[in-house]
Amino acid sequence: MSLAALLLVLLVPLQADVAAPFPKGAAASSEEQATAAACRVLARGGNAVDAAVALHFALAVTYPAAGNLGGGGFMLVHLPNGEDAFLDFREVAPLAAGPDLYRTADGGVDPEASRTGWKAVAVPGAVFGMAEAHRRWGRLPWPEVVAPALRLAREGFVVDEEEAARLAAHADVLRADPVARETFFLPDGRPLPSGARCRQPRLAATLERIAVEGEAAFRSGPLVEELVAASRAGGGVLSVEDFAAYRPELRPVARIPWRDVVVLAPTPPSSGAVFLGQVLPCLEDRPLRRWGWADGRTVNLVGEAEALAFATRNRFLGDPAAMAVDWRDLVAPERVEALCRRLSERRRTPPDALVAPAPGESLETTHFSVVDGAGGAVSCTTTLNAAYGAKVMAPGGFFLNDEMDDFAAAPGAPNQFGLVQGEANAVRAGMRPLSSMCPVVVLRDGEVDAVLGSPGGPTILTTVLQVLLHRYVFRMDPRESVAAPRFHRQDLPDVLRHEPERLDGAARDFLFALGQPLEEVGRLGDVNAIFRTASGRWTPVCDPRRSGAAWRVANPPPAPRAAPEPVRR
Ligand code: DON
Repeated sequence: MSLAALLLVLLVPLQADVAAPFPKGAAASSEEQATAAACRVLARGGNAVDAAVALHFALAVTYPAAGNLGGGGFMLVHLPNGEDAFLDFREVAPLAAGPDLYRTADGGVDPEASRTGWKAVAVPGAVFGMAEAHRRWGRLPWPEVVAPALRLAREGFVVDEEEAARLAAHADVLRADPVARETFFLPDGRPLPSGARCRQPRLAATLERIAVEGEAAFRSGPLVEELVAASRAGGGVLSVEDFAAYRPELRPVARIPWRDVVVLAPTPPSSGAVFLGQVLPCLEDRPLRRWGWADGRTVNLVGEAEALAFATRNRFLGDPAAMAVDWRDLVAPERVEALCRRLSERRRTPPDALVAPAPGESLETTHFSVVDGAGGAVSCTTTLNAAYGAKVMAPGGFFLNDEMDDFAAAPGAPNQFGLVQGEANAVRAGMRPLSSMCPVVVLRDGEVDAVLGSPGGPTILTTVLQVLLHRYVFRMDPRESVAAPRFHRQDLPDVLRHEPERLDGAARDFLFALGQPLEEVGRLGDVNAIFRTASGRWTPVCDPRRSGAAWRVANPPPAPRAAPEPVRR
């Protein structure tokens, strides 16, 4: 598309197209304007993939702590023709990275180096991933799906209380980055307060390039050269070759038959398929519903299954090219049955390794869900890893991830989530670090029944599992399924972390008697989901733990704008 044509697209407000073929979609994300962008794209005839790409780019503007151009993620797609796909656009280790990248002179590891600053940055896959998704499955012209983000970057978005609090919490480290300081701080050095308008001209210029040139803007040329120069100056190891070499990958989709539905889950480098593929079958024949959601037996048994699956995850999983075993063998029925036999609601299995420090709390990633009226669905989890990633910004106006910390910097030593992982996940050039991100789609009779996912590092897996249990075992309605308090167990550290309302006195006593260490935490996860209800209607839900937005696209969409129908704010 020519620049003139592009400008036309950008300047013309998105009009509702009454003849749009997919007027019945819905979207849920952690940020209102991003959800609105997706709904408008659906209302003007875009499919779920078009809407998801628009939403991803919009989050990069309005949710800078987790939305991104400088990160990566996983997209699970269900197409109207019944096909499923898993697009892996996760970051990879730079070509100059190796197992000693974070080693110190005395043979230890420097944990901070894989978390903050340019050395923590892996090669971002987000722009390549969006371009690939759109090329394969999109139907609107590319500039149209980039346009909402471009407009938000140019015109600015109003900083809400959550964003202001996040900026304030990270102000000291963010202020040190010249681009972050210019973008997110007042001239007097205070972080932007709630109510301030945040305009991002550098990001707007980058998005404009992406709208015109597509992913080529991220392969070579000034954006890449300036980013690589900033990385070098900051002690990082990114090179222009890294951007030329990056490839998004189509990976197998795991189909996990469970009860009367099929759960579609992402395979390595996601741990979703192995985690859900072990836990769901193990819990299938246990009387959870009879015991009840609040019962100590339910909590213990689910916790046992979670911890057991984490032990598998941490030992065997990584980039599939570095794994000694095939993920399919880890979820083979004989193996899963043998694991299940070890589980009892009345026994607690302590991990056999040393206790690692508890994972930190203030971490970000984000998940969004989109469905269209033709039967298509996108479940996408995307991340910079920690809030604002490595806390460094490209000259092009976007944050870079600290995804290198998802590798086992030293196999056997805990990362920022307390995960103790193995050789399969050691730092290797060009490899993807193991991930807990687990976007899922649930099918019933071949039709989309639910789309969901969450941020939360390792708690993503247990959050997704528990929302599935809430909805399909405990038969909660969509909102309750997401709102109901959750808990989390991984193999190490040896503790069951729970939200305040999750354990009543009796459940707590039951777990104490089994010797289960407990830890109350503020919140676990931030689910943005869409469920089909008995009437066949979409119910998009966002987590009451944070302030997202979930909207249905009205049918038919009211003219002149496709005003989305609010479900909750
Ligand atoms: O891929 C992973 O497992 C992590 N990078 C996800 C980080 C995360 O969810 C932090 N958020 N709350």
